[in-house]
Amino acid sequence: MPTITYRQPDGSTLSVAVSDGTSVMRAALENDIRGIIGECGGQAMCATCHVYVGSTPELPPIAEEEQEMLECTAAPRDPARSRLGCQLKAGSDFEAIEVEIPARQV
Ligand code: FES
Repeated sequence: MPTITYRQPDGSTLSVAVSDGTSVMRAALENDIRGIIGECGGQAMCATCHVYVGSTPELPPIAEEEQEMLECTAAPRDPARSRLGCQLKAGSDFEAIEVEIPARQV
């Protein structure tokens, strides 16, 4: 099963096993991970699922709508690591991923 490791701003981490097709955002909500809101439900329209990607195999390129929302993140965008959690799907995009949760989403 794919795994997602979430790192909080205080350095604490939690790893969860997820089914194929589950997004980084959805898995956070289902596992009560603090700091990811997912206000738009995964439509790439809110940027409240912003994460900084840590060590991971290559991810798919950033689509245009994701690019636009990444310009609206509450915490500073990191051009090399910022992604929308709702756009990263287990199985198709990664088998194991570590993401850092920004200090704020709104
Ligand atoms: S949940 Fe709204 S942009 Fe990801």
